[in-house]
Amino acid sequence: MEVIRICPSILNADRSNLLAEIRKVASADLLHLDVMDNRFVPNFTFTFDESVDIIEKSSLPVDAHLMIENPDNDAVAYAQAGAASVTFHFEASKDPLGTLKAIREAGARAALAIKPGTPFAQVQSLMSNLDMLLVMTVEPGFGGQKFMQDQMEKVQQAREFIEGLPEPRAWLQVDGGINLETISTAAQAGADTFVAGSAIYGSANPAETIAQLRNAARDRNELG
Ligand code: DX5
Ligand code: ZN
Repeated sequence: MEVIRICPSILNADRSNLLAEIRKVASADLLHLDVMDNRFVPNFTFTFDESVDIIEKSSLPVDAHLMIENPDNDAVAYAQAGAASVTFHFEASKDPLGTLKAIREAGARAALAIKPGTPFAQVQSLMSNLDMLLVMTVEPGFGGQKFMQDQMEKVQQAREFIEGLPEPRAWLQVDGGINLETISTAAQAGADTFVAGSAIYGSANPAETIAQLRNAARDRNELG
């Protein structure tokens, strides 16, 4: 595993000047867009129209993370709107397999997220139909929470399973509480794609922090 992807979350970026905020993280791989509906999680972020505006204006490919109830139709709409990757929650979906297929047909990478309480075994049978699995390392809803170390066993299980699948293999993403320390732990467990919100936007130099995060993940991968 050599490829490391860093995905800055704009959840806690300056909403009044998002384009400038996005320019600060141009050295990242994907822009992580957290969409919350105040139903699946107790917080609201972007409407669909606001999301489309960000997708159209972002210089980075957009990694849309939908934390919404009944995501099956919206997920496809995000793919049609040009998101490079669309992630919806297994817990909220009525038809995960159908939605994964429809996202791919609409030209985006299809991804599934699981909350801390959802075991890997519940999504194992879907793994050959997705392009990325997101293992949440906090309860979804807010930025700035503490990384849940107890999710690392799940990341290891997912990594072992993915290694047994034919190429191209799914990416394995972690989201929540990722910083210069915890990224090493998650990389060692097998994650290759990392969301970071407060670690990047709360730092004095986001570009430098992205480089440091990348190095910390890569070093750990090589050792591990
Ligand atoms: C949490 C969101 C995360 C959040 C990460 O529900 O899905 O993407 O923005 O923020 P940090 O990195 O601050 O935990
Ligand atoms: Zn997220």
